[in-house]
Amino acid sequence: MGTLLEYALIQVLHNFGALLVVGLSGYGFRVALLRHSPSQTFALFVLLAWLAQGLTGATFGWVTYRSDHRLPDIHGIAMIALMIKVSCVCGGAGLMTSCLGWGGAWSSSRRMLVWAGSTGLACLALTAAAFLRWFS
Ligand code: HEM
Repeated sequence: MGTLLEYALIQVLHNFGALLVVGLSGYGFRVALLRHSPSQTFALFVLLAWLAQGLTGATFGWVTYRSDHRLPDIHGIAMIALMIKVSCVCGGAGLMTSCLGWGGAWSSSRRMLVWAGSTGLACLALTAAAFLRWFS
């Protein structure tokens, strides 16, 4: 019961994290499409959302390791889906970090590209989540 509750609570955070990375990245893309610049604070929020998503994702594995003394037994399509999700988090966090560092000097087309990238990676991770769920 205790472990199941932990999984469920982590899943709640992870699901809302997914909502945040998809929603905020999409909003940033919309702002960039209108040739405005999403603020640095906004980019920082999206970076934190990406990092939180990686952290809650890893916490699933940690809970399994703590209760079963082994990592989740996944392979094949589920493993590929997990690797895609980890790559999306690295890519999304990298894009937002570069936005924080150099975004102020970017052209509007560069801004559009970066925010489209974050949105695309968030959607890709969401798609991979379905495969991880049903092939593991
Ligand atoms: C380091 C990155 C990530 C790791 C390690 C990770 C890991 C996990 C794990 C272990 C689950 C439970 C799978 C199951 O129910 O069998 C899960 C579920 C889920 N993840 Fe992630 N995740 C990561 C990133 C993301 C990202 C970036 C998103 C979305 C933008 C996302 C969205 C979801 C969703 C929606 C579920 C629920 C799927 C369902 O039950 O139908 N994850 N994730």
